[in-house]
Amino acid sequence: MTTPFADKAVEALSETEASRELRALASTIKKHDEAYYLKDEPSISDGDYDALRIRNKAIEERFPHLKRKDSPEERVGASPSRTSGFAKVQHSIPMLSLGNAFEDGDVVEFVNRIRRFLTLPAGEKVEILAEPKIDGLSCSLRYEDGELVLAATRGDGAEGENITANIKTIANIPHKLTGSGFPGVLEVRGEVYMDRHDFQRLNEQQAAQGGKVFANPRNAAAGSLRQKDAGVTAARPLKFFAFAWGEVSESFGATMTECRQKLRNWGFTLNPDGLFESAEALLQHYQQQSVQRPDLPYEIDGVVYKVNRLDWQERLGFVSRAPRWAIAHKFPAEQAVTRIEKIDIQVGRTGALTPVARLEPISVGGVVVSNATLHNRDEIERKDIREGDFVIIQRAGDVIPQVVSALPEKRPADSSPYVFPDRCPECDSPAVRHADDAVTLCTNSLECPAQAVERLKHFVSRNAFDIEGLGDKQIRFFFEESRIKSPADIFRLQRDDENRSPRLKDIPGWGDTSASNLWNSIEARRTVSLDRFVFALGIPQIGQATAKLLARTYSSLDALLKLFELIEEESRDGAESDALKELLAIDGIGPSMARDLREFFTEQHNRAIVSDLQEQLTIEDFVLEIAEDSPVAGKTVVFTGKLVTMGRDEAKVRAEALGAKVAGSVSKKTDYVVAGADAGSKLKKAESLGVTVLSEEDWHSLVS
Ligand code: IVH
Repeated sequence: MTTPFADKAVEALSETEASRELRALASTIKKHDEAYYLKDEPSISDGDYDALRIRNKAIEERFPHLKRKDSPEERVGASPSRTSGFAKVQHSIPMLSLGNAFEDGDVVEFVNRIRRFLTLPAGEKVEILAEPKIDGLSCSLRYEDGELVLAATRGDGAEGENITANIKTIANIPHKLTGSGFPGVLEVRGEVYMDRHDFQRLNEQQAAQGGKVFANPRNAAAGSLRQKDAGVTAARPLKFFAFAWGEVSESFGATMTECRQKLRNWGFTLNPDGLFESAEALLQHYQQQSVQRPDLPYEIDGVVYKVNRLDWQERLGFVSRAPRWAIAHKFPAEQAVTRIEKIDIQVGRTGALTPVARLEPISVGGVVVSNATLHNRDEIERKDIREGDFVIIQRAGDVIPQVVSALPEKRPADSSPYVFPDRCPECDSPAVRHADDAVTLCTNSLECPAQAVERLKHFVSRNAFDIEGLGDKQIRFFFEESRIKSPADIFRLQRDDENRSPRLKDIPGWGDTSASNLWNSIEARRTVSLDRFVFALGIPQIGQATAKLLARTYSSLDALLKLFELIEEESRDGAESDALKELLAIDGIGPSMARDLREFFTEQHNRAIVSDLQEQLTIEDFVLEIAEDSPVAGKTVVFTGKLVTMGRDEAKVRAEALGAKVAGSVSKKTDYVVAGADAGSKLKKAESLGVTVLSEEDWHSLVS
């Protein structure tokens, strides 16, 4: 079925035509969704489906006031792209990961940090719950009025995949909650995993049938869950442990222990837990768990500690993607001995030369390892690691395996020390090392093909532009074919393809569907948020958190570009730049990051890449999601002195949540200085500049 004005360009539609077409699109897309999701009988190709959705979105963007209540964009579980076979699901509350503790000291610091953040008096106890960390994959199960309506994978934490049909095949997941008193909306989160002996049995079966043999129970669980045919999942022995929750329409307890008991009553399986009141007690429990570990029916890779009181959890909040109120205490890395066949040098997107040991494959803690990082030149020299050496390698959790040390006693007589190259192995330009820096860099940042490819890979990666169907392999292919040389080429790829011979669809390994899927997924990313854009540029040291900080502080790309122009202008003739001072005043941006940012944005070639991208993209300004009536929105605040009702970190987090910018130093642009006891030079400076000074109580009454 085609819609009434399908042939007309979106720009040419009149308002009446747009309104009629949106209505037709809503009903057509709904019909296709039902055929696909409910009956499992797609009535249209994935490419055609995506085209309908893209057109719908484009019309809505041109005529926002015509957006319908039943717009396909608004439906939960509807997918912006069907190329991966699963619909996308936005998590209304992000699914986060956990910070790691490896040593006893990390656990002591975890508890101390909590006490500091909450400014707890010495006598006040903090109850901490400890539960095993299961090695599986996390899922979110949504219950409405007690009925399982949606199940999703974690995905990137913000958006996962709809795996409801597969989840429903897992025996210990209730389709309907038992008992009573559950919230109308309840999102239960937990881990899907496979028991050890079930895993072994499955692998024996798979091997006997010539099927895929899995490296470990976690991979087996993931592979079993992400099956297009839920029948396959049903035949796999999966289980579920609940350990947390996401969106809930009402709270159902004041502590983890209370809520966990309720989840049990409603039909979930929870893993055993313990409640402790000090770091020492946690460490003792951890020791016991590591002794019991081999006897448990499932694999665990550590113990998770969580603050028991939920009001405290709420105050503690999150640091970038992990809660402050929880941590995973990992079991020590597993080690094995193998031989280094050769040492390769990889060139990263910033030009860093990283040595990688190619190993005789060996199983370490159930995972087959054939590569391990050697970090950098110093590391190789310090450990005297050579090609042909027998070495101890170790693997901890998801971390890249590392070479711990060589076994010189097993070294052949003719062995010689490894010579680190002084030229880039990819482009043969000189590779240099700056004083005090551990990394050796290829100096040809503009033309080194390895760097260019790595930058492009980063640009399309999950936390950046997240272009589905454009992975490492495809990037390398398009780069080698000279179809993509710089990021903006991605958005010209389809147009460019029209003038090529052969066309992409005619190249072996592609085809009509995969080519049109690719065009669609590229089109779907023509609009991008400012923080993703900044992160995607791959500026050294600028990760997601810093990109967000910059977006939040400067709001638009234009403002950001102006900032760096201004810094250059002001610092001419060695003068001090106010704009630079402002940048450095941002809590979280230090001199070395500022230097990398300046270097990036003043480089002509980079500026050209950015303007080229600006022509292809809509870069959305950063919009703060805060109550409009926040009295401190957009204000710059400096906290100084000793605060009593909240720790410095808590003060900062709360102020930011209210839309304030928290700076580390006082300037003319500071709106408020909140001064606690014993405030010193910052208070003096505020007074001399005439900046409003607030006491802690003043601050609370201002924001409450
Ligand atoms: S709590 C907001 N508890 O570990 C924090 N996670 O490394 C929610 N995991 O993504 C996580 N066992 O998939 C929690 N008892 C447990 C866990 C657990 C396994 C997984 C989970 C999480 C990952 C973080």
